[in-house]
Amino acid sequence: MKILIINGSPKGKRSNSLRLAEAFVKGMGTKVSTDVQTVELSSMNINGCKGCFGCWKATPGKCVIKDDMPLIIEKLIEADVIVYSFPLYYFSVPGILKNMIDRQLPMVLPFMAERTDGVGSGSHPGRYDMSGKRFVLISTCGFYSAQGNYDAVCSMFDHICGKDNYEKIFCGQGELFSIEALNDHTARYLGIVERAGSEFAGGSIGKATKDELSQLLFPKEQFEAMADASWGVSRDGKNTEKADKSLVFTKQMAALYNKNSFDGKERVLEIRYTDLDKKYQIILKKDGSEFITEDFLEPTTVIETPFTVWTDIAEGKENGAVALGKHLYTVNGDFSLMVNWDRYFGVEKPVEKSVSDKKPPVMSAMLIPWCVFWTIMPFVGAQWAIIPLAAAALTPVFMIKHELTIYDRLSAGAVAILSALTLITGDTDMPRNIGYIIFGSMWFISCFTKEPLCAAYVKYSYGGESALSNPLFMKTNYILAAAWGGLYLITAALSWMLCGHAVVFSALSSILPAAMGAFTAFFINWYPKHLAAGTH
Ligand SMILES: Cc1cc2nc3c(=O)[nH]c(=O)nc-3n(C[C@H](O)[C@H](O)[C@H](O)COP(=O)(O)O)c2cc1C
Repeated sequence: MKILIINGSPKGKRSNSLRLAEAFVKGMGTKVSTDVQTVELSSMNINGCKGCFGCWKATPGKCVIKDDMPLIIEKLIEADVIVYSFPLYYFSVPGILKNMIDRQLPMVLPFMAERTDGVGSGSHPGRYDMSGKRFVLISTCGFYSAQGNYDAVCSMFDHICGKDNYEKIFCGQGELFSIEALNDHTARYLGIVERAGSEFAGGSIGKATKDELSQLLFPKEQFEAMADASWGVSRDGKNTEKADKSLVFTKQMAALYNKNSFDGKERVLEIRYTDLDKKYQIILKKDGSEFITEDFLEPTTVIETPFTVWTDIAEGKENGAVALGKHLYTVNGDFSLMVNWDRYFGVEKPVEKSVSDKKPPVMSAMLIPWCVFWTIMPFVGAQWAIIPLAAAALTPVFMIKHELTIYDRLSAGAVAILSALTLITGDTDMPRNIGYIIFGSMWFISCFTKEPLCAAYVKYSYGGESALSNPLFMKTNYILAAAWGGLYLITAALSWMLCGHAVVFSALSSILPAAMGAFTAFFINWYPKHLAAGTH
């Protein structure tokens, strides 16, 4: 399928609209084989029509002006799909595209013809058969919404292509497509455009996709605050802000604040750019953010960073968590803001699903067989080992909706074997002690793998697999896995040493894990915060 993109943006390849057009055509390529050509009107020589009608009379089908227009006419005739990609200029198309449209006059014959689609008062028959061609209009505009801004454009293309005889994608907030720091947001929209392209190639764009395409990239107020901040010019027309990139950037960041993330606690985020010796504060409130440059408040979270590092993170060139782990910047105060950064300022990423359609693994799948085994064994006869054996066999059944980790499987297997051993030998002590060694070793050995045991479960609350490249997350989990491993190896040693002191051992084997649980709860909050503050 021959596709011709007519890029009518004076910005050429830097066009926002072109990014959408390219995504659309990419989507088409997933359904049909495509041969794509793009004409860049901004770099071509296309003069305005002189209105001489020479192309109808003196040289039929040929324009008297010698420039690049014949090349375009040739491509228009050859193409199966013509994609007009252009920005909205003064509620119409930019001049360079209008010139190109006017210069299509040689493509029609001079005679009058009736229209059957009820548009206007007449038309001219085509010199070439354009009847099988499909047309697509793709355009971005600067206001928050495209709605109501394209009436003139649609009216013109109704005349040119036939009433509604074209697909259209009109998107407001167009300038956001050129801001790298917003790639996460715009990529999502471009994905929908790509889907639209694929559906178009397969027939027509579905209603669900059209509905998604008409949704705003950002809510009106948020977009307008960002757009106003982007000019670096204050409302009184003074140009004082322009030179200060860090001010414009941080102001835009403040505008990105998603007020739906407000959890009842007003936060004061202070950003200190260490290389510029500048600081700003953003107050995160119930009904939006406030950006302040003087009369500072007591901050709740302080980020100290070189400006270059902060912009690299915003533009996706550096991962924020990794950079924090590498101490490229530091955070002091309320760390929950950092943990939930995407909720406050970014695109909330859906929690990564595990490989299958199942829910993420849960640690109780690993713990239940062990808990049943150790709770029951000291107090009852060996024949009751049938209970942990059943628990080991049934836990995977109860957890059928969840993904199982290697540790869930190892635990179920080990408890089943140890219970069977108890049943066969009638000895409850030895299998129980071996259990402690296996359990402790499992935690301990996992510290020498890429994924410490606890991380295999907890990572799903921290963005899934991407958490494994977060040094703060990994360091915390390695330490905890080693600590839990050590605890259970010590428990195994104690159970041998305290043989015959069942009550003492029983007390210790309850108190120690409880104390470790309390330590874990403290450590997972304190340690990442301590690392982030760079005070170690
Ligand atoms: C001269 C001029 C006129 C514009 N007129 C409008 C307009 O009428 N309505 C609107 O929403 N945006 C308007 N804009 C904003 C552009 O449509 C917007 O920046 C668009 O995303 C640029 O797309 P491009 O990068 O593909 O050229 C105008 C921009 C310029 C430079």
